[in-house]
Amino acid sequence: MTLKTKTWWERGIIYQIYPLTFADSNGDGVGDLQGIIQRLDYLNDGNPNSDTSLGIDAIWLSPINKSPMFDNGYDVSDYREICPTFGTLEDFDELIREAHQRGIKVILDLVVNHTSDRHDWFVESRSSRDNPKADWYLWQEGYKDNPPNNWLSYFGGSGWTFCPERGQYYFHTFNANQPDLNWRNPDVREEVFDIIRFWLDRGVDGFRLDASSAYSKDKYFRDNPLKFASSDKNDYNNYHHLYEKNLPENHEIVREIRQVLDEYDDRLLVGETFIDNTLYDSIAFYGANNDELHLPFTFEFAFSPWYPGHLQREIERKELLTPQGAQPVYFWDNHDIPRHLSRWVDCSLCVDSMAIAMAAATLLLTVRGTPVLYYGQEIGMVDYDDIPPELSRDKAIAPSPSGEVPERRDGARTPMQWDDSPQAGFSFGKNPQPWLPVHPNYKEVNVAAQLRDPRSLLNFYRRLVALRRDSEALLWGRLRTLIHYPYEHLAYLRETDDEMVLVVINFSYEKPLILDIPIERQGWKLLISARDRRVNSYREETGTTIDIPEKLDAFEILVLQKV
Ligand code: GLC
Repeated sequence: MTLKTKTWWERGIIYQIYPLTFADSNGDGVGDLQGIIQRLDYLNDGNPNSDTSLGIDAIWLSPINKSPMFDNGYDVSDYREICPTFGTLEDFDELIREAHQRGIKVILDLVVNHTSDRHDWFVESRSSRDNPKADWYLWQEGYKDNPPNNWLSYFGGSGWTFCPERGQYYFHTFNANQPDLNWRNPDVREEVFDIIRFWLDRGVDGFRLDASSAYSKDKYFRDNPLKFASSDKNDYNNYHHLYEKNLPENHEIVREIRQVLDEYDDRLLVGETFIDNTLYDSIAFYGANNDELHLPFTFEFAFSPWYPGHLQREIERKELLTPQGAQPVYFWDNHDIPRHLSRWVDCSLCVDSMAIAMAAATLLLTVRGTPVLYYGQEIGMVDYDDIPPELSRDKAIAPSPSGEVPERRDGARTPMQWDDSPQAGFSFGKNPQPWLPVHPNYKEVNVAAQLRDPRSLLNFYRRLVALRRDSEALLWGRLRTLIHYPYEHLAYLRETDDEMVLVVINFSYEKPLILDIPIERQGWKLLISARDRRVNSYREETGTTIDIPEKLDAFEILVLQKV
């Protein structure tokens, strides 16, 4: 296939924006759509040779619909409105226009497993047993003064909440403020499909379906079986979610959503398939005929420990299982999990986060699949773990029954660090308190400083993005691993019939390493390299022809193209 016949998302890199903390244009401390518009040039100014742009191809916005913000937008109260916090529909149209002018696609988060309990549909549904929306949510009688069955909420406690007006319980996969829709009801389906068309008509290029393996529930509401000898601290994980996740009917729903997208040209359907899922469950979301999600987010790669053997196994498993004609998708971070540098620094010998960050960047942008970046990852932002509880914004997760303080997700959602001015250039003005506090390392870790430094992580990402864009092998060449049991390093090839690219990453933090790989060593062009913890010095000038070295330095990274 040639570059032209591939779709934008098979070529492209997606960048996730958390709108609440990306850029605040009006100084109220909260991010907004105009803020995003002002920062579009940083993401991609439309010039492939730009000195300042990252060069990504699409932005995915965490939810911007009207919401009481109990779960920070993942609780929608009006699907056809923009939350006033972020701006107006006019601002949104402007964002689409400005993004498209620069060649950036726009993907929205679509949260339709559940709504907010403030949504008019739920307000009506809960009001009586016989109103027109009575059957839009999952209502059941209790069982002997107890909830109808043993289904739990992912955020803690029973998944059922009693509603005195109806004398019945309603089900919620997440918090009680997020009642699950009844997808068996055809009116619900049609309404959601219309909402999808509403945004597609406005020029949206795709959706990320939130909790897309949770839509459909057992019609007999049977109890979930307990897992054998499982003692996870989130009780939710001690059950097999046989009867409220991943049901066969769920695939039917996703297929129908895909059909709505296919009424339009070139739109993308990504989905979050994570709750209690195995890789097989997630892969099933491509659909029997590649007719469900284009890209199902699977979490195994991100959750792998930072060891070459684990990472290679995850890559190989994905290579084996991804159906013909479908494309894998990879990410390290998102708004629900700690950032990768914060995750790994404790669990590996790699104490040098800059070296880990560069290796992670190289991997993400050179494996076969669509890469998804999370805002700030390109400058090495880490979690801010010391946010005082009174400033926490993550209210949806319930305390555990033992009273244990839940793990909040705020740490990975702090304001984007643009520069070293107060509030890191995220916000300005009189309001001293951004939505979440800025990470104290912003004076050193910020976009402006890293753009000035040719050896910064940001410039390393920019170079990798550019390399990937110009190489068919890196875009969709076959992936062949060169080491059977990688212990300290990874080495793999990306190949098309005309091009061969070799990627080598030494994970070892102190030792040089003999590089023993079954491949001709002479005649490789150096595409990019890095070595020497922290220093990020390049072995040779990029573009020179070299032989594959016998030894790799500590943390050395090489990307070479066969001449
Ligand atoms: C998804 C979102 C998460 C949210 C939950 C409920 O997992 O990524 O942020 O809290 O769904 O909507």
